[in-house]
Amino acid sequence: MDNRLLACAEFVRENSKVVDVGTDHAYLACFLAKKDDIKSVIACDVNEKPLQMAKKTVIDNNLQDRVKLVLSNGLEKIEENEADDIIIAGMGGELILSIILACKFSKNSDKHFIVQPMTQAPLLRKELYKNGFEIIKEKAVYENKHHYTVMLCRYCGEEKQITEEFSIVGLLGDDTLQSSKEYCLFQINKLKKIVAGLQKTNNKQEEIQKYNDIISNLEKQVK
Ligand SMILES: C[S@@+](CC[C@H](N)C(=O)[O-])C[C@H]1O[C@@H](n2cnc3c(N)ncnc32)[C@H](O)[C@@H]1O
Repeated sequence: MDNRLLACAEFVRENSKVVDVGTDHAYLACFLAKKDDIKSVIACDVNEKPLQMAKKTVIDNNLQDRVKLVLSNGLEKIEENEADDIIIAGMGGELILSIILACKFSKNSDKHFIVQPMTQAPLLRKELYKNGFEIIKEKAVYENKHHYTVMLCRYCGEEKQITEEFSIVGLLGDDTLQSSKEYCLFQINKLKKIVAGLQKTNNKQEEIQKYNDIISNLEKQVK
């Protein structure tokens, strides 16, 4: 279990029925299944091979009666009454979004989605809000020289357009934790690199101005 997966586990509620979508080795599923305050764990994956690796981890940990393994594209094979907290970690933001939107019961606001995008976090934040979801909590994690975010989301029914700034840093922009600040500073530096690239090209003044405004707003927010 690395810090990225531990951060996902932190957002799981007590007495919850957990579904780990895209479980791969099932490390997180097994970690959660060992806890007394978790009601049930389903580990699912769309591919046979990872599910075989998951099976091995489950057997090695003697958790056959605690972890149910399911071959499923997203949450297709999962029933609403089997899932309270749904973890979708280690995938691209677009794939995570498509899994949430395809889920038949995602608009039940009692369901919590714990998502950890490897890419396209801004797109994921924008689209979640556009589709009536909200981020309740967010945690930054630095691991193996990468900055990650873990978001806890649920459906709230209010479709919103969020600002560019919020799409880039989410709730971490207002957080005082050092790890959140470092995540935001990393995003600001990424934007500065984009601006430096644009400055080498002609006729990009408008785009440069747009990025510089975002950078300056983020810098004011993250002190
Ligand atoms: C990089 S692994 C991430 C494993 C683990 N969740 C983690 O964060 O360390 C991505 C896993 O997602 C699975 N996956 C990809 N698309 C999926 C989908 N539509 N439904 C379920 N699983 C999917 C892949 O087969 C793979 O095992």
